Amino acid sequence: KKKGFIFDLDGVIVDTAKYHYLAWKKLANELGFEFTEDQNEMFKGVSRKRCLEILLEIGGVKATQEQFDAWMVEKNEDYLTYIDKMDASEVLPDVPKILNFLKENEVPIALGSASKNAKPILEKVGLLHYFDYLVDGNSVTKAKPDPEVFLIAAQKLGVDPKDCIVFEDAVAGIQAANSADMTSIGIGDAGILADADYNFKDFTEIDLGFIKKIIEK
Ligand code: G6P
Ligand code: MG
Repeated sequence: KKKGFIFDLDGVIVDTAKYHYLAWKKLANELGFEFTEDQNEMFKGVSRKRCLEILLEIGGVKATQEQFDAWMVEKNEDYLTYIDKMDASEVLPDVPKILNFLKENEVPIALGSASKNAKPILEKVGLLHYFDYLVDGNSVTKAKPDPEVFLIAAQKLGVDPKDCIVFEDAVAGIQAANSADMTSIGIGDAGILADADYNFKDFTEIDLGFIKKIIEK
């Protein structure tokens, strides 16, 4: 049966979580409070708008609509200064190995990300050409853990959700893949991503034989 692979972006393909963190921290500090790396865990897989809402709750800051919109822009502009400097060296280890293997086996690949910056980031790191479809923060209305992003990706891939395989580093992302009835593969801490069907610390732990088995299932 034809399979489709769906990759999250931030934390799976590239380690942009650290740049998101620096940009949110800068804004928090400007507004007069601290924002820690532990707190940043909650922001993984979460839309920019929702992140700002949580950040303001953490700081106990009330905002007018104008301020809210201005801070959204400010955070993103700051984030983009980091993205600007990215290159292929920031692709996480063995990601191209997996993408190449899927291509060789003619398995379609989609991106399933909450980010509105997905396309420029993939371009920057030289991976855009691997993706048959991009489903990102510009095409989705309901954020993970809602399965919308992955269901749209499955539709574009022309593959049944149950024949889709999702790589995710966020709890909300694993939940989204599971409620879409897809095979979920957690990339990161197996304790945090305990609901995933399979767990790997990173792609260097994934054997191509494992991918082959999934494709042929
Ligand atoms: C990903 C990241 C989140 C980020 C979201 C929106 O899901 O894990 O931390 O907030 O994308 O990203 P954007 O690039 O649109 O601000
Ligand atoms: Mg992620």
